[in-house]
Amino acid sequence: MTVMLADGRPMPRLGLGTWPMNDEEARQAVTHAISLGYRLIDTAAGYGNEAGVGAAVAQASVAREELFVTTKLRGSHHGYDAALRGFEESRARLGLDYVDLYLIHWPLPGRGLYIDTWRAFVHLREQGLVRSIGVSNFTPEQIERIIAETGVAPVVNQVEMHPGFPQDELRAWHAGHDIVTESWSPLGRGSKLLDEPAVTDLAAAHGRTPAQVVLRWHVQMGAVPIPKSADPERMRQNLEVFDFSLSSEDLARLEPLATGGRLGGDPDTHVEL
Ligand code: A2P
Repeated sequence: MTVMLADGRPMPRLGLGTWPMNDEEARQAVTHAISLGYRLIDTAAGYGNEAGVGAAVAQASVAREELFVTTKLRGSHHGYDAALRGFEESRARLGLDYVDLYLIHWPLPGRGLYIDTWRAFVHLREQGLVRSIGVSNFTPEQIERIIAETGVAPVVNQVEMHPGFPQDELRAWHAGHDIVTESWSPLGRGSKLLDEPAVTDLAAAHGRTPAQVVLRWHVQMGAVPIPKSADPERMRQNLEVFDFSLSSEDLARLEPLATGGRLGGDPDTHVEL
């Protein structure tokens, strides 16, 4: 199950998130996830677990080409040269020849460097070290600037998204620009969201778990969710969301959950080094 990126490369429709796992937790979780059928693995320099992810990929029973490994540039490496160095450090920790998707983790607009960073990303893609390039936690205005100044659009914007913060406007904007929305904290960090009656009622009606209902919602919104789980049984159920669907009435029942609150950082103000 894949979605086609604007650069012509297929991306899996769902993946495994690895924050906040340490190296050993990530190695174990990714190893198990790949054996269950996960093909998209999401990490970041800032998570401190790229070595664990890389170890699992190296030992995996499936070929490297079948896997889709995403990592992200941390804020301390914004700028052209720093971004190239940051990438090389990530690649060394991962132990990979190439990364499938490389994202700018946060725009850090106050530092005014993301355009230079993006030029380095374009270079990395031209070198074949990165297959696809994208951003994370960017606003439409910031992406417009990237496009205007470099002529190269990101193919993915990975943002916080869940039924409590559904990103309707941003998703519509992405759709108009052929940018895939990838959702972090898709389960609302396993918070109250999974206990909401609207979610548990739909789960009961479909004979599914609350997490499966929420992940199916992401898929039907056209987004690529990356639920984090270190638990083998939850990992298994989180992947099994492609054999049922929510009706338009079901989807309408989830709409009142959109209270507008973020769980994580705001793209305009978040500072991450
Ligand atoms: P665990 O790792 O013990 O499974 P998000 O991806 O939205 O940040 O959510 C991650 C949180 O949700 C983690 O605490 C994770 O715990 C929990 N979680 C992941 N999958 C499920 C599931 N199927 N049911 C309930 N909680 C889940």
